[in-house]
Amino acid sequence: MSRLNKKRVVLIVTGGIAAYKALELVRCLRDDGAAVNVVMTAAAEHFVGRLSFQALSSEPVHTDLLDARAEGAMGHIELARWADIVIVAPATADFMARLRHGLADDLATTLCLATVAPILVAPAMNRQMWLNAATVDNTAVLKIRGIVFVGPDAGAQACGETGPGRMALPADIVAAAGALFPAGMLAGRRLMVTAGPTREAIDPVRYISNKSSGKMGYAIAQAAAEAGAEVILVSGPTRLSSPVRVHRTAVISADEMYDAVMAVVDDVDIFVACAAVADYRVEAPAQQKRKKDNHSLNLTLTPTRDILQSVTARPTPPFAVGFAAETEDLLQNARSKLERKSLDMIAANQVGIEGLGFDSNDNELYVLWKGGEQHLAKASKDVIARQLIGLVADRCHSRA
Ligand code: CTP
Repeated sequence: MSRLNKKRVVLIVTGGIAAYKALELVRCLRDDGAAVNVVMTAAAEHFVGRLSFQALSSEPVHTDLLDARAEGAMGHIELARWADIVIVAPATADFMARLRHGLADDLATTLCLATVAPILVAPAMNRQMWLNAATVDNTAVLKIRGIVFVGPDAGAQACGETGPGRMALPADIVAAAGALFPAGMLAGRRLMVTAGPTREAIDPVRYISNKSSGKMGYAIAQAAAEAGAEVILVSGPTRLSSPVRVHRTAVISADEMYDAVMAVVDDVDIFVACAAVADYRVEAPAQQKRKKDNHSLNLTLTPTRDILQSVTARPTPPFAVGFAAETEDLLQNARSKLERKSLDMIAANQVGIEGLGFDSNDNELYVLWKGGEQHLAKASKDVIARQLIGLVADRCHSRA
């Protein structure tokens, strides 16, 4: 059976000569069992009539950010939530630039901002436009954010030139889309993981933070994606690139991380709190850079909101996994956090030891849950993450 069977595809068609090939793509997607809603940009309508897409998808075509709501049809938020995957084919250089900058001035760009589904982009443009430094740069940034590319192919172009820029064949786009839904332990599950440190501003140039590198959280995001989950990574400031097939939201402070998590947590099946969230923030950060004087400086710190605890307090909480980084009484502290934060599972690690935990490549975990525990011996964070995801999949299947 096709991996796209029963998957919900939003196909965004932008304005290029390759738009006519998107008609064939709709047919291929439907042949594979997918439901398709087509969104056309204003420019796309100059190339292909919406009726053709309507006939092939058996759904009304969406074109306008505001009309959809007036007509009682699916608005951008509903479409963004409905989608299991968003495919942009063909994607023009202009659309890629607008996506890179997070513009939201039409239905297509707004939908891309609002969705947590993976986004697959099939560029199509003149070869010189594809090779232009601006497009190269836009592509690199979009890839770092986890957006997946298919094509472009090289060959004869509509403009008479020959080179890279032809839209990938519809069959290749369908295959690339299918590859985003691997059958695995967490196939069909949506997992959110927080990672990295947070930064709490003292003034515009100084902050309070911690030593977390984000490596463990990113390894968990990658392991979960490999296991077939749809993954949302909410990350504090790190130097890491987003793993492929992972939707990353970048945040700075504990407050921003809280808001990013709460905005989508009701739509996830599994929540892993791996971030080293600041427990306190500066109550009144200075608006201007603080000048030194010879007196001691007192900063009033105020507690941040506990993200994990707020997640488990939801009416129907996801399967919740916490981390406990401890310098002493590891297992005892972890067990009490498991209870106190109403967790399904906690992963405890000893910190303050050279070569383990914060900012190192290796880790060692004691994973605890009600009625069981497992020691994950020292190994690379990638290996530990896969083992942890294996335990999460087992426990969450037995809870379901
Ligand atoms: N956590 C969170 N939001 C916070 C603080 C912590 O989501 N504001 C999460 C962490 O991501 C981790 C777990 O809670 O999964 C435990 O974090 P930790 O800092 O070890 O525990 P605290 O509750 O802060 O307790 P203490 O500092 O007393 O050890």
